[in-house]
Amino acid sequence: MNVLVTGGAGFIGSNFLNLMVPRYPQHRFVCVDKLTYAANLQSLEGVSSASNYALERVDIADWDAVDRLFAKETPDLVVHFAAESHVDRSILGPRDFVKTNIEGTFNLLEACRKAWGSTKDGAKKSDVLFHHVSTDEVYGSLGDEGLFTEETRYDPSSPYSASKASSDHLVRAYSRTYGMPVKITNCSNNYGPRQFPEKLIPLMIQHMLERKPLPIYGKGLNVRDWLYVDDHCEAIWAVIERGVVGETYNVGGNSEKKNIEVVDTLCAIVAEETGTKADELLGLKTYVTDRPGHDLRYAIDATKIRRECGWTPKETFETGMRKTVRWYLDNRAWVEAVKSGEYRKWMDANYGGR
Ligand code: NAD
Ligand code: DAU
Repeated sequence: MNVLVTGGAGFIGSNFLNLMVPRYPQHRFVCVDKLTYAANLQSLEGVSSASNYALERVDIADWDAVDRLFAKETPDLVVHFAAESHVDRSILGPRDFVKTNIEGTFNLLEACRKAWGSTKDGAKKSDVLFHHVSTDEVYGSLGDEGLFTEETRYDPSSPYSASKASSDHLVRAYSRTYGMPVKITNCSNNYGPRQFPEKLIPLMIQHMLERKPLPIYGKGLNVRDWLYVDDHCEAIWAVIERGVVGETYNVGGNSEKKNIEVVDTLCAIVAEETGTKADELLGLKTYVTDRPGHDLRYAIDATKIRRECGWTPKETFETGMRKTVRWYLDNRAWVEAVKSGEYRKWMDANYGGR
C-alpha cells in the first residue's frame, strides 16, 4: 500500500510513523506535512532513512499543492492527522483552524474524489480508504454523568472543536454522497513522547523542571479522559484493518481524571524520577483565569471499537505517565530546541525552499 500520513511530523502522526514504518516494510509511508510550529522532524529521525518512508512538505489548505501530490503519489490509504490542534490558540486566532481543519480536509476529500472517480449516481466504489482522525471535543461537554457514544449529538464549544466537527461532517457527506470509503475515529486526550509543550502534560513537566508556576485553569476540576499516544495509534490501525467502512469509532483510555489530579500525579512522578521533594513541586501550583467556553467533562464509551476491532489500551494512566515523564527527562534537548527556536531555524534552513 501507498499510505499518505498527513500531519505526520506532529505529535500523534510522528508516533504513528515511528510504530508503523518499521512494522510494515511492505507498505510505503509518505509523511505529508506543512511543517508548522507544531511539527518536529527530529521526532521522525528514527524512520527518516527507512526505504519505505518519504516526506512531502505540503500545505493541505493549498488545493494546487494537494492536487499535485495526489497526481504524484496515488495513495491506497490516507490517514489524516494534519490539523491545527490547540484549543487555546483557536480562541486567540481561529482563522488557521478554519483553513487547515475545514478547507484542508475538504481539499483532501476532493483530491480523493478526483483520484478515485465516481459515477453521476455515486455508485463507483474504490478500495482506497480515507481514515479521518478526529476528537471527542466535537461532542461538547458532559455533566457529571454519562459517556460519549458514537450517537452523541455534535455540540462543539471552541473554534477548534467546531472546525473538527465541520471536517467530520464533510467526511461523512463524501461517504454518503459519493460512496467514498471513509472511516472516522474520535479520540480523547492523548499524552506521551513528542508532544509540543503547549499542551497540559508536557507543559506541566517542563514547568516543574524549570521551577516555574504550574498554571491550572479555573479550579482544576475539568475532567479529561487520557490515552497514551501509542494506544491511539494502535486503535487507528485496528480500525483501518478491522473497522467497517463508513463507520465512526470512539477511542478512549477509560482513564477519567480531573486536571488537578493529573498535575498532582505528575508532581509525584517528576519528584520521584528527579530526586526532588514532591512538596516543592506541588507548591508551584497556581490557579489562573479559566479558558473561555471550557468544557467541563469528556468521557468515552469505547465499547464499539473493542467489540468490532478487538482494541483495548495497553497502558494504564500510571504506566503511561511514568513513560512520558521519563521520555521528557531523557530528551531535554528535544524540548530545548523547540523552545529556543533552534529547531525552527534548522528546519527553515533544510526545508525552507520546498
Ligand atoms: P499536532 O499539532 O501535534 O500536529 C499537527 C501536525 O499537522 C503538525 O505536524 C503540523 O505541521 C501539521 N499541519 C498543520 N497544518 C497543516 C497544513 N495546513 N497542511 C499540512 N500539515 C499541517 O497535533 P496532534 O496532537 O498530533 O493531533 C493530530 C490529529 O489528532 C489532529 O487532527 C487532532 O485533531 C487529532 N486529535 C488529537 C488529540 C490530542 O490529544 N492531541 C486527541 C484526539 C484527536
Ligand atoms: O479531547 C481531545 C483533545 O485534547 C484534542 O482534540 C486536542 O487537539 C488536544 O489539544 C486536547 O485538547 P484539550 O484542550 O483537552 O488539551 P489541553 O492540553 O490544552 O488541556 C487539557 C486540560 O487542561 C483542559 O481542561 C485545559 C487544562 N489546562 C491546559 C493548559 C495548557 C490547564 O489547566 N492549564 C494549562 O496550562
